[in-house]
Amino acid sequence: MTILERIEEKKEEFVGLRRRIHEYPELSMQEIETTKLVREYLDHLRIENYPNGNQTGAVAILKGAKPGPVIGLRADMDALKLTENTNLPFASKNAGVCHACGHDLHTAVLLGTACLLKDYQPELCGTVKFLFQPAEEGYGGAKSMIANGALENPCLNYTLACHTWPEMPAGTIGVRKGAMLGASDSFKITVKGKGGHAAHPHKGIDPVVVAAHIITEIQTIVSRRVAPVDPVVITVGHLTAGTVSNIIPGEAVMEGTVRTQNPETRIQVSEYLKQLAVGTAYAMGAEAEVEYDFGYPPTMNDPKVIDWISEAVTEILGPERLLQVPVSSMGSEDFSFYLEKVPGALFRIGTYDETPESKWALHNPAIIFNEQAILTGIAGMVSSVFKISGSDMNVLKG
Ligand code: NI
Repeated sequence: MTILERIEEKKEEFVGLRRRIHEYPELSMQEIETTKLVREYLDHLRIENYPNGNQTGAVAILKGAKPGPVIGLRADMDALKLTENTNLPFASKNAGVCHACGHDLHTAVLLGTACLLKDYQPELCGTVKFLFQPAEEGYGGAKSMIANGALENPCLNYTLACHTWPEMPAGTIGVRKGAMLGASDSFKITVKGKGGHAAHPHKGIDPVVVAAHIITEIQTIVSRRVAPVDPVVITVGHLTAGTVSNIIPGEAVMEGTVRTQNPETRIQVSEYLKQLAVGTAYAMGAEAEVEYDFGYPPTMNDPKVIDWISEAVTEILGPERLLQVPVSSMGSEDFSFYLEKVPGALFRIGTYDETPESKWALHNPAIIFNEQAILTGIAGMVSSVFKISGSDMNVLKG
């Protein structure tokens, strides 16, 4: 039997896992039932597994019969604070929480991958470490996995993850060398002026006008300080000052996000932003305090690992199902923390079909992912593990 026939044979089981996770979504660091389901299924497969050290998350280890590298496969498990709007028979039963980023599919892909690799254990070279991670959505899940030793015992040589992508058709896999997603950093600027009567601005220092200048100035970082081919986004998403129309307030506060893809540009932009805020405020007689928080680094795919994934997908799924992702996303992903330490890659699994619902953006509560993506994801993951570990690809061809 070929790998695709084996996956087809277990299709209902894998889709069923996804639907159960989808029906009971859980927020970051609260993935208790999801972790339970994952560990029960791993027990059923007779794959050694243990908690991640957190209340949620799990790690499993499968040793191949032959020597080879250690490959870490990561799936995120958390859902979003959103009310699902799909009318699916297995729609969320947890009020105000839903899987609109496809992490339910990622978890099902990794469980399906574990199931198949268990079958292939006698032919498998090396060791596979399955990382079921909590809290990808901004709550430090990757960091806590790494702090709890996810990259050690045994030490990972390579690491892989996948993510749903509603801009590619279901059944395809998307790859890209280098930056796949951006870095996501945030800042807060507090402008301190001097409050007073709105009719006598010369007796105070108006922080609202200073803040307005700073907001305009920092956009020139993108247009004038960074190369046009090097993508940067600076957005001020929150701005507050004052209470009523006839008082000049004492301070204005703005908060924003910075997205970059180049690690050096990331540092430069943080410095330009501080200089511009402090300098502009000084020039206008005010003061600016800048708090800058480095969040997720850019997700950088290792070129060699992308070559291996591309070869594996071409051999097993066919060249027409391998797509090149033309531009990286300015979104971000905490898998980047693993990639800072271990060479690896995140590939996309296409999820759209002929329905408009499948083409909504990620994080839209009405999005419906085509479940073919789960099966393609499993085929992509298993074949990539075979290729990277030097296992015999003919085994997958039946
Ligand atoms: Ni996501």
